[in-house]
Amino acid sequence: MVRIENLDMVFNRGTPDENHALKNVRLTVQAGDFITLIGSNGAGKSTLYNAIAGTYLPTAGRILVRDEETERDITREAEYKRARYIGRIFQNPLLGTAGKMSLEHNMMICHKKGYKGLRISLNQKMRDYFRENLRTLGMGLENRLNDNVELFSGGQRQALTLLMTVMSKPALLLLDEHTAALDPRNAEMIMDLTLRFAADYRLTVMMITHNMAHALEAGNRLLMMDGGEIILDIDAAEKAKLSTGDIVQRFKDIKNRELANDEMLLG
Ligand SMILES: Nc1ncnc2c1ncn2[C@@H]1O[C@H](COP(=O)(O)OP(=O)(O)OP(=O)(O)O)[C@@H](O)[C@H]1O
Ligand SMILES: [Mg+2]
Repeated sequence: MVRIENLDMVFNRGTPDENHALKNVRLTVQAGDFITLIGSNGAGKSTLYNAIAGTYLPTAGRILVRDEETERDITREAEYKRARYIGRIFQNPLLGTAGKMSLEHNMMICHKKGYKGLRISLNQKMRDYFRENLRTLGMGLENRLNDNVELFSGGQRQALTLLMTVMSKPALLLLDEHTAALDPRNAEMIMDLTLRFAADYRLTVMMITHNMAHALEAGNRLLMMDGGEIILDIDAAEKAKLSTGDIVQRFKDIKNRELANDEMLLG
């Protein structure tokens, strides 16, 4: 699905602020994988996403995407082009939707992404399609198509962002601590929704989280990054046997230092 070859990212090279944020990262993501990604602050997790999504050009290395039989090098492809097949959701629930626009307008814009160049307009059939999908959230949003999205709660907006992203059928979904800014109840709601959508739509997902319990419960593979490197790569069978304490111990064994408690939530 996605193959990452020897990816390096150096910020501010040759200056006192030089920062080697990704070091020779190699990773193959299979179609249907749900990979959880943990690591302390500054480990390089978001930088890896920035490289995959095309926000930043890596200093070295390649990113390849397989589409049926052909593999394509997308390392230099523009971010807006990749956005058609790479979905990305951030921590801030206000980022994924436009607050000053109505719910149906937001959904329309997202829907149009899939129909490059085609003129489609909002009609009854489309409203029915939006309503039908909104109903799956169980939040009553199907009755609020004309409300501006700024009226919705953070949890509702994040659920909406998730739904809209999933409806655009991304080949790869990148979640960057997408539950971290929500209260515990909403965070659980969004996690449940994420797992349900991943199964229903057979998504390929990478999920950064600071919540080790989520990282262990969800998905079929767990990666841990530190200092710009992937230092742990745990498959489903092994993951099923591990506790958060085991992960902390594994970190200690590899890095010869303690994983500070505030670096990750052990919850
Ligand atoms: N645009 C940039 N310019 C300079 N340095 C950057 C830039 N983006 C990230 N970095 C640096 O790269 C390193 C990795 O940052 P990154 O955001 O990938 O960490 P992270 O693992 O996502 O951490 P967190 O858990 O805090 O979100 C950090 O030292 C950060 O300061
Ligand atoms: Mg980050």
